[in-house]
Amino acid sequence: AEEPDLEGRHVVVSAGGTREPLDPVRFLGNRSSGKQGYALARTAAARGARVTLVAANTALPDPAGVDVVPVGTAVELREAVLRAAADADAVVMAAAVADFRPAAYAAGKIKKKDDQEPEPIVLVRNPDILAELSAHRARPGQVVVGFAAETDDVLANGRAKLKRKGCDFLVVNEVGESKTFGAEENEAVVLGADGGETPVPHGPKEELAETVWDLVAERLG
Ligand code: C5P
Repeated sequence: AEEPDLEGRHVVVSAGGTREPLDPVRFLGNRSSGKQGYALARTAAARGARVTLVAANTALPDPAGVDVVPVGTAVELREAVLRAAADADAVVMAAAVADFRPAAYAAGKIKKKDDQEPEPIVLVRNPDILAELSAHRARPGQVVVGFAAETDDVLANGRAKLKRKGCDFLVVNEVGESKTFGAEENEAVVLGADGGETPVPHGPKEELAETVWDLVAERLG
């Protein structure tokens, strides 16, 4: 049985992975399925929250009772998240946001030219939404949570990233070829800015989601 401990709260969750277009048919993307973000949205709704789910390129059914805002690029995701965060008690950035996007967008499909070397793809930095949300809280006491996928030195890199981003919690998980992306299960450690460290054993993404909301609800008081 679920405790309605998020009743009266508005929470924002981002999910999926951004796609950064090169031309009308091509993009730079990533392997995020959105399952962890959807699990976060479902469990928050079950605990009584009003939920805005900003979904980047996902192919999952809308969770019942959740306000879903579809987006494509990091810039679109930023706009949707900042708008929804204005009156939010908590924001959880579970989406895999591209750190870089192509510097140029070709309005027509890029063609290969015979006897010519391929053009390099020039990238520019995307805004770091998590860092921005953390630095400019829309409300005092708003809780900001980030995710980090690390392949090595998971805890040390996680601690450094938590500090750099300025969020309240960072969910750190180890990723590899067969781990986490698209999987039903996850294994993680939730690092707190207060020094807290909450391990979440290998299990369904719902379980990790419940742990995140436990920590958020406790922080909100
Ligand atoms: O720096 P890194 O991409 O590892 O950080 C991951 C966390 O930061 C995730 O919570 C992701 O949603 C967020 N992020 C962001 N904006 C970016 C890149 C990542 O909000 N441009």
